[in-house]
Amino acid sequence: MRFFSLLALAIGASAAATGAVERRGPPPPPPPPGPKKCLKKPDVDFLVAAYKSILTNWTPDKANLIADNGFFDYSDSINTVAGLPTGFPIFPNKTAFVGYESTTPDNIPLVVVEVGPYNCEQITVIWSATFTKVPGGTPSPVRGITVLEGVFDEHKHQWEIQSIKVEFNSINYYKNTGGVCTRPAPPS
Ligand SMILES: *[C@@H]1O[C@H](CO)[C@@H](O)[C@H](O)[C@H]1NC(C)=O
Repeated sequence: MRFFSLLALAIGASAAATGAVERRGPPPPPPPPGPKKCLKKPDVDFLVAAYKSILTNWTPDKANLIADNGFFDYSDSINTVAGLPTGFPIFPNKTAFVGYESTTPDNIPLVVVEVGPYNCEQITVIWSATFTKVPGGTPSPVRGITVLEGVFDEHKHQWEIQSIKVEFNSINYYKNTGGVCTRPAPPS
């Protein structure tokens, strides 16, 4: 008895489902886009390694690690070292960034000191680089903090750097590139 009533229920249900499929009307709306992909620890490690690699040993293939659209690099430290006004992105797009790295790569021995907190799309990195571009010069340590923004490229199926915001010890960087700073006299 119980079996037959269950069977009747099942048949009724599939008949109703078939009816629903055959009903005429406007097509259903497309499904909403999937949830935005969030960074997980392996993705964080990948992007931090990508950043380190770009700054340590630039090669043209590394342009692939930079998002094609909407990329920027903001750093008042870089603007200051370069003797430019502050308050605007030094590299407002990928072309500008890749062009710079291709002609005058940073190639500094960047050591990741600490990968700080991260969230769905941002990563904090504390780094240090001790170097000098001056022959016979004294290398000074440059410590910096970078906030990397990541984006998942659905076509290439890989994470890429969407933006870089970085500030660092620009006095030491400046000295390491041959700049000279004079400390002001103490107040009398
Ligand atoms: C990229 O930025 C540079 C400024 O550094 C600008 O001259 C150039 O027009 C920009 N290119 C594109 C494609 O937006």
